Amino acid sequence: MKDNSKNLLPPSSFISRTWRLGALGALIALVALVGGVGFVSYQEQNDRFCISCHTQPETQFFERDAQAVAQQSATDLASFHYRTKGIRCIDCHVGEGIVGRAAVISIATWDAFKHYTGLQHQPATLVIPVQNAACIKCHEADLRKPGFENHYHNAYFDPNLSPPYISCVHCHVTHRVGDERTAFQFRDAILPRCEYCHEQTGHGPRGQATPMP
Ligand code: HEC
Ligand code: HEC
Ligand code: HEC
Ligand code: HEC
Ligand code: HEC
Repeated sequence: MKDNSKNLLPPSSFISRTWRLGALGALIALVALVGGVGFVSYQEQNDRFCISCHTQPETQFFERDAQAVAQQSATDLASFHYRTKGIRCIDCHVGEGIVGRAAVISIATWDAFKHYTGLQHQPATLVIPVQNAACIKCHEADLRKPGFENHYHNAYFDPNLSPPYISCVHCHVTHRVGDERTAFQFRDAILPRCEYCHEQTGHGPRGQATPMP
């Protein structure tokens, strides 16, 4: 009898060994995960890391940065940022707030999978739009400058007007080649946005631009 019970139940030392192995496995997985996120968060700070996977046109975005520094003149708003203050890809693409950051980390993990399994397509399609907060964290003072000439920026803080009427990147197209002397303003991007808000609020001029896409 004594021997039988021994055969039916695994010895207690066996149970605790499985448990310990399981716990060790879980711990290793956890360390790998945290380490992975930590490693990526560290690597992200380097624009070369982005370019290690991305090809055209993103490699061109990267080249524009170097060009902007060399020529003391930028060809797009993103490289203007790089030239004036060394602002990197991740400064705009990091994902704002806990939710924004988590979304970027998840999509980046999926993107890494796509890259290593050959599922990636180029050019990359934007899944997570760059949020207003990504710009406002550096530009709040510009937006708050009072005066009619800044009414569309001031509107950001008017709960009735923003969102949906103010999206920084609708007017400030970031990777499109433009002119530094005009602060990369594109009439075809900006004017429909001005008029859209005028339309909605019933104030201000409209009817000059082609309707918003
Ligand atoms: C000043 C902020 C800013 C910086 C710096 C920046 N981006 Fe962007 N990026 C944007 C915005 C905003 C968009 C959305 C499309 C647009 O407005 O041009 C975008 C779009 C993209 C897209 C989507 C595809 C596309 O063409 O729209 C990729 C990929 C991208 N950026 C990669 C990069 C890389 C790589 C760098 C660094 C070399 C970088 N970005 C630097 C703001 C920025
Ligand atoms: C491990 C490879 C890899 C690295 C490193 C990488 N990317 Fe990507 N990225 C991808 C792939 C793959 C896609 C998806 C392309 C597709 O199929 O549309 C992508 C998509 C994107 C997009 C568009 C999707 C979205 O998020 O909305 C942006 C923006 C972007 N990457 C920016 C960056 C920036 C900025 C860096 C550096 C901080 C970076 N990537 C580093 C592989 C990578
Ligand atoms: C309806 C279009 C529109 C929207 C939306 C918009 N801007 Fe602007 N922004 C402009 C125009 C036009 C200028 C050029 C003003 C000038 O040079 O006289 C400008 C200029 C700027 C400048 C240069 C400094 C300055 O104040 O002249 C910054 C910084 C800026 N915008 C940031 C932002 C941010 C951040 C957002 C989002 C909260 C935003 N903008 C939304 C149209 C817009
Ligand atoms: C990390 C901080 C930072 C982020 C993020 C950032 N900017 Fe800027 N931006 C700057 C600085 C610094 C300047 C240069 C100011 C100067 O030289 O007076 C600048 C300049 C500008 C200008 C003026 C360009 C010119 O030619 O005069 C515009 C427009 C602008 N930013 C829009 C944006 C938009 C739109 C976003 C979001 C997609 C953004 N910025 C994100 C820091 C930032
Ligand atoms: C978020 C909403 C919003 C956006 C975006 C916006 N406006 Fe306006 N605009 C208004 C409102 C509201 C008024 C009327 C309030 C006032 O007269 O102060 C107005 C009035 C005007 C007027 C007429 C002033 C008058 O005395 O009749 C002009 C000109 C104007 N806007 C130009 C622009 C331009 C140019 C842009 C784009 C760069 C723009 N607006 C973007 C909301 C907006």
